[in-house]
Amino acid sequence: MCGIVAYTGYRQAYPILIKGLKRLEYRGYDSTGIALLNEQSLNVYKKKGKVSDLEDFLADTNVNGTIGIGHTRWATHGEPNDVNAHPHYSFSKNLAMIHNGIIENYSSLKQELINHGHEFQSQTDSEVFIHFIEHVQEKVNCSLEEAIRLALKEIVGAYAIVIMSKDHPNTLFAARKGSPLVIGVGEKEYFLASDATPIVEYTNDVVYLDDYEIAVLSKDSLTIKTIEDESIAPYIHTLEMELESIEKGGYEHFMLKEIFEQPRSVHDSMRGRVNSATGQLLLGGLREYLTKMIHARRIIIIGCGTSWHAGLVAEYIFEEFARVPVEVEYASEFRYRNPVINEGDVVIAISQSGETADTLAAIELAKSKGAIIFGVCNVVGSSIPRATHAGAYTHAGPEIGVASTKAFSAQVVVLTMMGIILAKAKGTISETDYRKLLVELETIPEKIEKILSNHKQIEYISDLFKDARNFLFLGRGYNFPVALEGALKLKEISYIHAEGYPAAEMKHGPIALIDEEMPVVFIATKDSSYEKIVSNIQEVRARKGRVIAVVTENDKLISQMAEFIIEIPHTHEALMPLLSVIPLQLLSYYIAVMRGCNVDQPRNLAKSVTVE
Ligand code: F6R
Repeated sequence: MCGIVAYTGYRQAYPILIKGLKRLEYRGYDSTGIALLNEQSLNVYKKKGKVSDLEDFLADTNVNGTIGIGHTRWATHGEPNDVNAHPHYSFSKNLAMIHNGIIENYSSLKQELINHGHEFQSQTDSEVFIHFIEHVQEKVNCSLEEAIRLALKEIVGAYAIVIMSKDHPNTLFAARKGSPLVIGVGEKEYFLASDATPIVEYTNDVVYLDDYEIAVLSKDSLTIKTIEDESIAPYIHTLEMELESIEKGGYEHFMLKEIFEQPRSVHDSMRGRVNSATGQLLLGGLREYLTKMIHARRIIIIGCGTSWHAGLVAEYIFEEFARVPVEVEYASEFRYRNPVINEGDVVIAISQSGETADTLAAIELAKSKGAIIFGVCNVVGSSIPRATHAGAYTHAGPEIGVASTKAFSAQVVVLTMMGIILAKAKGTISETDYRKLLVELETIPEKIEKILSNHKQIEYISDLFKDARNFLFLGRGYNFPVALEGALKLKEISYIHAEGYPAAEMKHGPIALIDEEMPVVFIATKDSSYEKIVSNIQEVRARKGRVIAVVTENDKLISQMAEFIIEIPHTHEALMPLLSVIPLQLLSYYIAVMRGCNVDQPRNLAKSVTVE
């Protein structure tokens, strides 16, 4: 939530900031702003709307300057408008700051500052933050760096901040706690951003700032200290991200590109990990903790949204093959309900972004109670992989579209591998089943390819249903989480109300919704609950519901019952979610495009939810 970018060096800052903000727009897109320092004058420009609105607004403005900060906002405190947009000024207008996070004690700080004569323009917590830093500097009569350090000690909440000062014309001050911040290290230049996407074009050398660290960056020096004033030697990581992976590459939307990337991203998730010929299946990060996992009395899986759905698929796999009880929890509920966690319980935290505030807090809670935490994340170097004991990256590559697609399939692949490894180590899976699963896993990318090649048919069906007001998604067993995921995809990008249910639950309530206007998407592939779901389809048909069924190739029975069928290849029941989710992603995508929705940046949403 909220993207921040900053630059100091020898190049013009403005184009770097604008391009960087466009890359970060997935993190928030309700207002944008930049500050530039040009010959001792600190100029701040802010606009409600997207980065391109600010760009248009500044078309005739002098935007020279080799140091600057930029922000794209997802509103928490104060409605999206020009005034509440970042950067915010200090009282004297000497300092400008961008902030990603939430200041929990802002109202008491604000009152204190008002008592000292401060006046505020905006309703934001961030403006209070920068005024407070100035106030501390005046009170203690110290350097700006020291004032930032002392002020941060009083701040309760989460932040990634970058500050510019008229008095330090080449220097950026940055700090983080709970919100991400990456420093790009160039030759006589430095970059700062919420993630590496605005940086990768200029340098592959990055430093991930840690919580309670403060960085001071000028053209040719970088120093990092803790909030306790201890120096830290910056550790430079090399980025492995390719520039093409964060561009649309000819697709109309990132979401479509990411859906079509799945044959490759699923393959990448398995690369070097699965080899059916040798029977090898390994996840390097699991090795050290495998024994603990084998002895775990139960596994708790936590995540939010789509990641939570991937966790539900994992529940079926872990219980079926590794015979271990699994609970799948919304991180946001888990963290607040005093859960029973016993020493040695294993918690698996799933997150695409690796930054979700609720998931991070749930991890800290479980850790404090003695659990072993294993992370399944996509963004390398993000906060969750650093907060967990061990983990496996999903290697889906950057996911820019706000609606998660390729990250979901990659999560399911990694969790499936994890479940099979555990089952093998526990001896709860037969050699035949083990080998069969490995062989099938390797065929998934080409089967996804085949489903994607049928996109025209899905587009056609989408056109017929684009004006529906509601949708039901029904599945059983392994396909039940896919029904939930299909409904989530549709509602978040097309704004059509949709619900996912286990198909058998329909008769306990949702069946009352069925009439001749209700589209019902059944995920009805040939598996152990096939006959049961066929009966559920009959129940919907009997009430004139309009059935779209995702079926296994050559299914003769359902093709006679459903109004439309979408065929997908056969695979092992446990791997079916990897295939059955693909048509649902495409259906949502096409419907949303046909309704004129902004699929990559749906209203009110942000890609990485760093507030609770
Ligand atoms: C839905 C979606 C969200 C995320 C959720 C968790 O398409 O993207 O529901 O899955 O916000 O995010 P991560 O996985 O980054 O923790």
